[in-house]
Amino acid sequence: MEVIIESDYNNMSKRAALIIAGEVKRKPDLVLGLATGSTPVGTYKELIKLHKEEGLDFSKVTTFNLDEYIGLSPLNEQSYNYFMWSNLFNHININRANVHIPLGNVDDPDEHCSWYEERIRQAGGIDLQLLGIGGDGHIAFNEPGSSMASRTRIKALDQQTITDNSRFFEREEEVPRFAITMGIGTILEAEKILLIANGKKKADVCAKFIEGPITSQITSSALQLHKHAVVVLDEDAASKLERKVYYNRVRDQKLIIEKKTGR
Ligand code: PGA
Repeated sequence: MEVIIESDYNNMSKRAALIIAGEVKRKPDLVLGLATGSTPVGTYKELIKLHKEEGLDFSKVTTFNLDEYIGLSPLNEQSYNYFMWSNLFNHININRANVHIPLGNVDDPDEHCSWYEERIRQAGGIDLQLLGIGGDGHIAFNEPGSSMASRTRIKALDQQTITDNSRFFEREEEVPRFAITMGIGTILEAEKILLIANGKKKADVCAKFIEGPITSQITSSALQLHKHAVVVLDEDAASKLERKVYYNRVRDQKLIIEKKTGR
């Protein structure tokens, strides 16, 4: 796992956007996995800026979102469908037909989950998957105890997630109790993974998933098994890491090599 520590939220967002933009330029028909929550909002703002000011082209990009609340229509302002259109898709030249976000209001959610997995396969698999991390260590809605081999399915939300996410709703009772989510197995099949996290509130969980043991109690720790996972943190989220000096040394060495080789 490569750990990149940036000074603050803005620089974390810029760095994440540059990594994504680099992949889009390298492969214009990139299959890009996307995330919701407050963490990626800055990254999406930076991508919009790169599109508007530098012509970053999303016209051939295909996207797959990680998750959606069960029971919310895509028009509901709390839905992740609504979030993605208002925070990113409405502001870039994405082809609507290439956007995939699970639907929370389908008649048969189980069938919808199988269809979603099939669509990812048909697209040739995910090239780059963006992730946030929950206070309980979840990636997507893979709550503590999720199978490390899990696929897209319905998952009951953990109480900590319900409490954390209640800030987006008027009352905690309004937070849906179930969600459709890509599984850990689905996520681990992405070619590359980019996890972003910021703030002191994420410091404990970041130390656990990066430097602690692999455990289904912290589902993000599964990333330790991935061949190409990059984690971009701000100083606050990185504040409890023990091997910070090493991560910064790796970053400095990479910069030297990049300067020498021009890559
Ligand atoms: P947050 O959520 O970005 O709003 O902190 C992250 C997550 O739950 O994955």
